[in-house]
Amino acid sequence: MSATGWLITGAVVVLVATLPYWLPRAVIALRVRIFARVGGEEGVRAPGREVPAEEFKKVYGHPAANGRSRGAALSDLFWYWLSPGPEVHQEHLEPGPRYDDVARTTRQILAGLSRAQWTELVGRCTQRVLDELDGHARVQRVRLRDLMMPVWAEVYYEVVFREPCPRHVRDLITGNADDVVTALKCTGLRHMDRRARLTAHLRDRLAHDPPPVPLPSSLSRREQAYYLQGTFFNTAVVQMSEAMAHLLLALATHRPVQDRLSAGEETVDKEGAFLDRVINETLQHFPLFGVAHRITSGEIPREGREPIPAGSVLLFNYPEYQGSGSSGGGRFDPDRWLNPDTRPSAFIPFGVTANRPCPARGFAVLTMRVAAEEVLRRFRLESSVEHTRSLPSRGPCLLVPRTGASLSPARRRTRLAAMRLADRWATVPRSLTQLVLGSYMVWDARRQGLCRTYFAASSGGSAPSVTAGR
Ligand code: HEM
Repeated sequence: MSATGWLITGAVVVLVATLPYWLPRAVIALRVRIFARVGGEEGVRAPGREVPAEEFKKVYGHPAANGRSRGAALSDLFWYWLSPGPEVHQEHLEPGPRYDDVARTTRQILAGLSRAQWTELVGRCTQRVLDELDGHARVQRVRLRDLMMPVWAEVYYEVVFREPCPRHVRDLITGNADDVVTALKCTGLRHMDRRARLTAHLRDRLAHDPPPVPLPSSLSRREQAYYLQGTFFNTAVVQMSEAMAHLLLALATHRPVQDRLSAGEETVDKEGAFLDRVINETLQHFPLFGVAHRITSGEIPREGREPIPAGSVLLFNYPEYQGSGSSGGGRFDPDRWLNPDTRPSAFIPFGVTANRPCPARGFAVLTMRVAAEEVLRRFRLESSVEHTRSLPSRGPCLLVPRTGASLSPARRRTRLAAMRLADRWATVPRSLTQLVLGSYMVWDARRQGLCRTYFAASSGGSAPSVTAGR
């Protein structure tokens, strides 16, 4: 072979061998460009040039930052991902009597349990799901999001219907939630048939045996089914499963933190408090929301700057905002929350109080703590995968039983090294899949224009339902 031939072969070998190090990043950059192109450039970034981090909360909490869906091309994409029934999903309803009715019902349903009842319910559901694990005396490999999803399906079914969740309904709920989150992360397409099966079950249930808390009277029976599906069997289940996957993966990849929790070095009270700091630190590093958007219904005046005009699309970027008030240099350090000087100053895991914050903010951390304690009581967690905010890998992890089989140090090293390698190489096909499927879904969402069409029709006098098959 000639010198040039060797050079080219060498370059190709290096390129291929280093694929996992550069391809996913290049694909993400390309995806962002394609998303912007297909979805249309819009929006005022916060934090950003026009809204610096210091003004983030003030602008987010301004009464005129209250439009939720109408007037933003981005809404078509969210409506597409959250179908069926995005038009009655609490997160995407415009302010007004319908929103008030829906938000009140959510509050009533969630307020039906005392802290002791939440603790009992989450503990019981976590135990049941962990009991089902195949051969729980041996070391096994799981994906943390998949491990946790049935727990929250059972919990939120019982929160709504106040009775234990039958197994076949749990499968419908996880089928629905998994499909939504998979499409949101662009690792798979939507499967509306899976979602429709849950809608059909809920409609039938509401017709014969509705839940104890009356559902919003401003919604039709079909919309009530969509409301329950969207808020409880999609958002609640997806958010809690994602939050737990992040928490458990953070513990699996930070041995000293996990050891401190499981060794019982601290008193029960203090241990509880330490776990809360670990949860805060997890939500600080890995906020569940990427960008939340609002459409301004009026002008937002600012000191020393041009006002933000009515009709602007505001893009509130959680990771950037939370990163702006962090002094830890990216280190995972739960103890920095103990000291006011080191505690992150920009921390809004559940949104801002003045503008439609998360209705679960009062007990989400409590329920995460209960589920995590149950997992840690049974297993030591081991993982070597990359921990990113979007976590498309669903959190591969080894569960090592506290009693029964264990891993010798050599075997542990080998399994973790193999896991790291597999995780790294899995990013190559996955990022290409995300690029292709994501671009398709952005294009398809724009073509269908679910939000655009809905508001165009409702301003013409007839508000259509966004049907499951679209
Ligand atoms: C750790 C878990 C959770 C986190 C970190 C979280 C985070 C958030 C955030 C940041 C928002 C505000 C988004 C915005 O401003 O547009 C939000 C809104 C919302 N969340 Fe959660 N959430 C969690 C769990 C839940 C659960 C369990 C439910 C169950 C009902 C829920 C239901 C909602 C709803 C309905 C909204 C929309 C509120 C409205 O617009 O009125 N979330 N969540």
